Amino acid sequence: MIFSRIAGTGGFLPGSPVSNDDLVARGIDTSDEWISERTGIRTRHLVETGVTTSQLASEAARRALDAAGVAATEIDLLIVATTTPDMIFPSTACLVQNVLGVPAGATAFDVQAVCSGFAYALAVADKFVKSGSHKRALVIGAETLSRIVDWKDRGTCVLFGDGAGAVVLVADSEPGILATALHADGSQSPILNATGSISNGVITGSPFLHMDGQSVFKMAVRVLGDVALEVLAAASMQIGDLDWLIPHQANIRIMKATSKRLGLPDEKVVVTVDRHGNTSAASVPLALDAAVRDGRIQRGQSVLLQGVGGGFTWGAALLRF
Ligand code: ACO
Repeated sequence: MIFSRIAGTGGFLPGSPVSNDDLVARGIDTSDEWISERTGIRTRHLVETGVTTSQLASEAARRALDAAGVAATEIDLLIVATTTPDMIFPSTACLVQNVLGVPAGATAFDVQAVCSGFAYALAVADKFVKSGSHKRALVIGAETLSRIVDWKDRGTCVLFGDGAGAVVLVADSEPGILATALHADGSQSPILNATGSISNGVITGSPFLHMDGQSVFKMAVRVLGDVALEVLAAASMQIGDLDWLIPHQANIRIMKATSKRLGLPDEKVVVTVDRHGNTSAASVPLALDAAVRDGRIQRGQSVLLQGVGGGFTWGAALLRF
């Protein structure tokens, strides 16, 4: 039987950390106290004008390939999860393929599930690898959310950051990825969206992200708890079997409410939202990479990755690292 497992991780954050006080200095009517108390965010990284999602994705991917000891020329599947692609088309995945030198003829496409994007992309790649059709996949979550936040809306602009995280997923005779689950509820699209589009040469809808924060908060806590129990049950595991939980890094209060509901000690939850802000599809692979590189996550440990975001979408992947 063929399984997939993560052979290496990588992450990339642009520029220097931008603190909450730096945002105040840039003229945003907010405070370090308001942001850190409500969200846990202290710093985030923001791209300079002109820096693209594919550039961040390529850098994170190079680091994941190095960590895995896999050459770009050996990759046969490349999936980029992003909601801030460089352009309508080609896909960000095709742009990254060209930059990295992933061979012509490989499979490359984007997945759009906003902050659940990495969970979606990883689950899709797992199914490709398990089917035997592909052997070495690059799965990337990359975003430049700062391009689509309204810097005049203090209720949203303070929450987001830019960055990219990546994993190399390889075929193996031992499991790796133990269970995945993906869900969506399109009826909830009004609570979190960016409706902008181009039609007949005219921009329609809003170019900015809009969010009903309290509705998102309630929905996120409910579905993150449910999907954690779902993948654990699918793998015949209990909460107590988990070594690490890596939830989408949107807000420390959502993470604490989820771990409390699951009865999981806070020490088992990987937190990077304080340093990265909410990087949407990049948040989970960035947090995974941080915890692997600082030695917390060790080979053989059980790790639960979770995404939740616009759509509404949510998903999880349970793995033996
Ligand atoms: N600085 C200072 N004051 C602010 C700011 C700010 N950055 N933003 C809003 N306020 C003010 C508001 O104007 C309001 O003032 P008022 O009472 O005088 O009218 C007050 O703070 C409360 O505003 P609310 O929007 O009601 O604040 P709330 O307590 O709901 O907190 C927050 C907002 C942090 C966004 C919260 O709703 C939340 O955590 N939601 C979860 C959503 C989330 O994390 N989304 C991330 C993206 S989605 C995802 O990744 C799944």
